[in-house]
Order: sequence, then structure tokens, then C-alpha cells
Amino acid sequence: RVNLAVQLAGLTLQNPVMPASGTFGFGEEYAPFIDLNSLGAIVVKTITLQPLIGNPPPRLMETYCGLLNSVGLQNPGLEVFIRDKLPYLRRFSPPLIVNIAGRTIDEYAELAERLSAADGVAALEVNISCPNVKEGGIVFGTVPDMAARVTAVVKRHTHLPVIIKLTPNVTDITEIARAVEDAGADALSLINTVRGMAIDIKTRRPALANVVGGLSGPAIKPIALYAVWQVAQVVKIPLIGMGGIMTAHDAVEFLLAGATAVAVGTAGLVNPGALCEIIAGLEHYLLEEGVEDIKELIGASQM
Ligand code: DOR
Repeated sequence: RVNLAVQLAGLTLQNPVMPASGTFGFGEEYAPFIDLNSLGAIVVKTITLQPLIGNPPPRLMETYCGLLNSVGLQNPGLEVFIRDKLPYLRRFSPPLIVNIAGRTIDEYAELAERLSAADGVAALEVNISCPNVKEGGIVFGTVPDMAARVTAVVKRHTHLPVIIKLTPNVTDITEIARAVEDAGADALSLINTVRGMAIDIKTRRPALANVVGGLSGPAIKPIALYAVWQVAQVVKIPLIGMGGIMTAHDAVEFLLAGATAVAVGTAGLVNPGALCEIIAGLEHYLLEEGVEDIKELIGASQM
């Protein structure tokens, strides 16, 4: 048998595959289709202090090679999450990673503090990269100094591992990565979606009500892979690679580029079985290649 387990910021994952935040709801949505206990970790949709209804529709559309979304962080808010979602999620054994976003640095601090006090949260993933909100989001993720400040404040308000989620919508992602590592980040998630748009040729108007959306799926895989490869060269903390991973083949590429774990978003929306298929495919790849431990793959393309 092969060993699929990896260590990430003090967490032990039985395999390196987890859902990408925002594509997995709060677990309940996928439970009829897959065994949540087979995942490496569970990652839930971004939580904000107050409930948000998100942006007006249309806010999701298909392109030839991916999805454009302008959801705008729709979520039930921290209180409802802790009261109604967390008890359900506690039933599962993979570590639970909760993604958070604030409009201000103080809101990130409060979210970190209150989620750390709630039983059952294994790590925080800090969203400083949402392209679809006017306050917070990408505003914090595109300026190294701001990204570092959010990281430092969240670190001060939690004992949990802090994973910072980076945006590709910057000139140099390694600059942001270095800044948040210096500020105390325990791991990085990369990449969030790439800003883009579509136009409806009948109405002659932008297809998304919010005009701009975040592009995900196969279209962004080479961008994401290169981001992981570049960032792996400049930081020591572990990386969770994501962006267009549809198959185990894609996941292996991210591991070879330097990711310790991978997150799957668009593929799971298209096919709820995708994550389990990718886990099975990784095991198959290791057996075929005669690799006993998946950790041997991490960053192997860099050597
Ligand atoms: O593409 C994205 N959409 N990235 C995020 O971080 C949040 C999400 C949304 O809710 O708009």
C-alpha cells in the first residue's frame, strides 16, 4: 500500500485532496454524493461576521473552459455558522478548515477569535483575495503591507494554524507570499479566481450583473501551476495548490510544482464525485510509478 498522508501546518491530512472554499457549501450539500470522511480536509464557504446575500444575479456563467462567478461572498454569517453548520461538520473526521473574510482588519480579528473559541475548527483560511466584493476581499490581497497586516492580526487572535489565500490578480504573487510568510502565516492557498468578464451579444450588456467575475476551472490551471511553482521557490511554509484541477493528473502537477496539498473547486461543481476520483487516481499514480509515499512528489519538479 502507498502512503497518501501529508502534514500541513500542524495538521495531518490522510490524503492531500480537499474542496476549494465556496464550492462545497457547508458539507451537507455533498454528503448525499460522497463520503466526507474520505477527504483530506473539509473547507467551507467564506464566513463573514454578518450574513451576506451576495451580488445580484446573473452571477454565475460557463465559459468554454471554466466558470465565471461574481457570487460576492453570500453566506449565513458567523453566528448561524457556529449554531447551525458547525455541529453537523463536527461529525466528520477530516480537519475542518474555515474560510473567513472581513470588510476591515478588525472584522478578520473578531472572526478569528470567535471561530477559535468554537469547538471543531482545525484551521483558518483567510480570504484576502475575493474579486467580487467592494470592501475587504482583494483590497487586502494585492498590497503586500495590507496582506501582512491582516495576517499578523489574525495570528494574534487565534491559536489555530492560519492559511492565507492569495489572489493571482497581482503583478508579483511572490511578493505577497513573502510578506504574509514574514507576518506569521502558517501556510498559503493559491490561487483564488482570475478576474474576467463576458458580454451578452443580444442585450449588448455585461453578462454578469456585477460586470467583473472570478474565472475558475481548466482555463486558469497553467496560471495557478506557475504561481505555485514560483511561490514554492521563495517561501518555506506549505502550499495548498488550486486552480483548474480536474483530474489526478492535474493534482500530481501541483504536487510536483511544490504544493503539499491541493484543493478542487470547479471540478466538484461539475461532478460531485470528482474529489474522490482524484484521491483514487493519486493512489493509482503512486502504485504505477512505484512511489511509496506521496510526500516524495512535493516540489520534485524544482530539483
Ligand atoms: O471567485 C471567488 N468567488 N472567490 C472568492 O474568494 C469568493 C467567491 C465569491 O463569493 O464571490
